[in-house]
Amino acid sequence: MRVLAPAKLNLFLRVGRPREDGFHPLLSWMCTVALFDSLSLTPGRAGQIDLSCDRPDLPADFRNLAVRAALAVGGELAPPREGSGRAGLRIGLAKRIPAGAGLGGGSSDAARMLEATNAFWQAGLSRSKLAELAAGLGSDVPFFLHRPSAICRGRGELVAAVGRPRPEAALLILPGRHMPTPAVYRRFDEMRLGRDLEAESEPDFAEWTRLDAGRLLPRLVNDLEAPAFDIDPQLGVLRADAEQSLGRSVRMSGSGSSLFTLYDRMEAAAEAAGELGRRVSAEVMAVQLAPQVEDDLPD
Ligand code: C5P
Repeated sequence: MRVLAPAKLNLFLRVGRPREDGFHPLLSWMCTVALFDSLSLTPGRAGQIDLSCDRPDLPADFRNLAVRAALAVGGELAPPREGSGRAGLRIGLAKRIPAGAGLGGGSSDAARMLEATNAFWQAGLSRSKLAELAAGLGSDVPFFLHRPSAICRGRGELVAAVGRPRPEAALLILPGRHMPTPAVYRRFDEMRLGRDLEAESEPDFAEWTRLDAGRLLPRLVNDLEAPAFDIDPQLGVLRADAEQSLGRSVRMSGSGSSLFTLYDRMEAAAEAAGELGRRVSAEVMAVQLAPQVEDDLPD
């Protein structure tokens, strides 16, 4: 079985003051983009889950969220009948989504592995059970069970699907720098940027799904930009350069380091990506927003 795991963008991200458990309350509109990791599943040695990844710098053991997702589903399987042995699995992971980039690559791999192992082992777990396992794996994992477009609340695990944004394409700017998420949230707290989300009225996201790029972009915010640019001022400079070159607002996704902007048409995004790519020292690409995922696991 071969499955694809798409990256995400936080189109909108508001962050509250830290809770007692240290996590921050969020309000985020998240949407997938057509940049995919690829996962293959084949039967493995009984009782073993092995991962091979084309990126040797990433952990291939239980520290990898894809392995943890398979273990979580494996833990829900009925005990093996005598002589039948526990199910084994070999996972092949081809990484295309950069790590530490705010694009949710590890979380997307994990969510897709929950769905894929549920089918591969015929585990029969319900959507709500998968959502519970997802929340245990990380704050961004539950979103990927509700892709391509959803509003996320709580620490990220309370997910409500919303229509896809009207713009067709995103231009991604990938600076190749790793931003450590906990450090960005710590700096956010030091800068005392936490908002009282409960007291603020929420945007009408359903209405926003009807806006073209020109009207949507000025409404988008990311409260983690200030702490991320404080940690890495070069990233703030890159954002300013990109905004000037493109003549439109550029946002950061999640805790960085990826930056993005939106276009109504793919052709315009591709043309702008080509031009910007020659001017800045970062990888620039145009990708479809909210793509269909075509792989061996039907939606
Ligand atoms: O849930 P996850 O393991 O992805 O979170 C990584 C880190 O990001 C947490 O350890 C925490 O420092 C920070 N975080 C947070 N509030 C959230 C989500 C993540 O403080 N809602």
